[in-house]
Amino acid sequence: ARVAVLLSGRGSNLRALVEGAQGYRVVLVASDKPDAGGLAWAAEQGIATFALSPRGIGKQTYEEALDAALCQAGVQVIALAGYMRLLSDAFVDRWRGRMINIHPSLLPKYKGLDTHARAIAAGDAVAGCSVHLVTEELDGGELLGQAEVPIEPGDTPDSLAARVLVAEHQLYPRVLSEFSRAMTDHPALPRLRDLAHA
Ligand code: GRF
Repeated sequence: ARVAVLLSGRGSNLRALVEGAQGYRVVLVASDKPDAGGLAWAAEQGIATFALSPRGIGKQTYEEALDAALCQAGVQVIALAGYMRLLSDAFVDRWRGRMINIHPSLLPKYKGLDTHARAIAAGDAVAGCSVHLVTEELDGGELLGQAEVPIEPGDTPDSLAARVLVAEHQLYPRVLSEFSRAMTDHPALPRLRDLAHA
């Protein structure tokens, strides 16, 4: 399948997805943060990039431009990888069943931010990461895969995050690979004329 990765930051999961690609190809890396590290890395690899900040243009215009870029690249599957902006219900609906995310907790535990600090504060013995379908509910869509890591005595949010990240880099390419194989029969979606009317 032709995959777009959406990110806002350093892009270590992007790197794992590109390096572990089997049964899919990352054809576009898009970001709401034009200075995201992951964008620069993608450009160095010769992967097409799309960078646009929603600041000043509004969410709808931003998402329409993003959607147009995705369609132009023939994208079939979107993989969110550290994309830190909430997508509108219209955008989510338009890509329903074709957009996945990785989250650094064992969902349904710890949706949202500060997952590692919350897992440590709760006294959990295990933490981990989850890949799930994106729906209108933040971090709430159907689970596609999870990996567990132990929480060690003396762990800080940073030390735990580093351990979970290693697991993320193994889990995400594997799940995306399985997911993409199921998608490859579907052609790219037609361009949305107007997301507001979707
Ligand atoms: C990862 O921990 C991911 O689970 C979360 O954001 C972080 C992104 O890190 N959604 P990176 O940019 O892929 O290095």
